[in-house]
Amino acid sequence: MKKNFIIANWKCNPTTLTEAKRLFNSYSSQKIKNNTQLIICPPFIYLEALSRIAKKISIGAQDSFWEEKGAYTGQISPVMLKNLGVKYVILGHSERRKYASETDELINKKLKMALGVGLKAILCVGETLEEKKRGTMHNILSHQTHKALQGVNRKQIKNLIIAYEPIWAIGTGKACSIQDAISAGLFIKRIIFSRFGRKTADELVILYGGSVNSQNYAAYIKEAALRGLLIGGASLDAREFIKIIEETRGA
Ligand code: PGA
Repeated sequence: MKKNFIIANWKCNPTTLTEAKRLFNSYSSQKIKNNTQLIICPPFIYLEALSRIAKKISIGAQDSFWEEKGAYTGQISPVMLKNLGVKYVILGHSERRKYASETDELINKKLKMALGVGLKAILCVGETLEEKKRGTMHNILSHQTHKALQGVNRKQIKNLIIAYEPIWAIGTGKACSIQDAISAGLFIKRIIFSRFGRKTADELVILYGGSVNSQNYAAYIKEAALRGLLIGGASLDAREFIKIIEETRGA
C-alpha cells in the first residue's frame, strides 16, 4: 500500500513550548489512517520535547547543516537530529533560500550529508511569480533538482521526498491549480527518471505545498502523481489541520 504524506511545517512558530505541546497533542490524539504518514516539523528548540511524546507522528526538522560536527557556531548537524530520534528534515525551503541566502550548492551539500547519515530529506523546489510569468518554471525546477542531487546515489534517493512548492503560492492564499501541480510533479519525476531510471522515478514521493487548507487539500492527494502535502499556515490552526487529518483518514 502506497503511503500519503501529510507534513506540517511550523516554520518559526509557536513562541512557547507549552503552545507547541498543546498543538502537537491535539494532532497526536487524532486517529491516523494506516496509509498516511503524519510528520510534524517544529522549530529545532521543540524537537526533543515533542520527540519524547510522539507516537504515531514522525518528527522532522526544518533544516540541518552540511557537516556532522565541528566549529560551526549556531549550526545543527543531521547526526544530532538523528540521535534525537528525528527522522525527517526539510531542505531547500524557499524561505531558507530567501532569508538565509541558501544557494543550490549549499542545499546540495546539506542534502548529501542528511541522506548520508540516514535522515529522510524533503527537498523543496519551486519558481517565483516572475519566473512563472516568464515561462521559465521548468528550467527552474530542472536546475534546482539537478543541482540538489549532484553526487546523490540511487540508494540514497530512496530516502528522498521532493515537494513542489511554487514560491508565489506559499502563504499567499493563492494555491497552485491541481493541473499545474500535477504537471510540475510529473516533470520532476522525468528528471529523476533521466538520472536514476524508471523504478526510482516511480517510487519517488512528490508532494505539493503552498496555501493548502482544509478546503482545497483533497483534490491534490486524489491525484496519483502527488503523494501528499507540505502544509505551513494551516498546520498551526488546530481546527483546520485536524479536518485535513480526519478527512484524509476517510479518503
Ligand atoms: P503555506 O506554507 O501552507 O503557509 O503556504 C507552505 C510551506 O511553506 O511549506
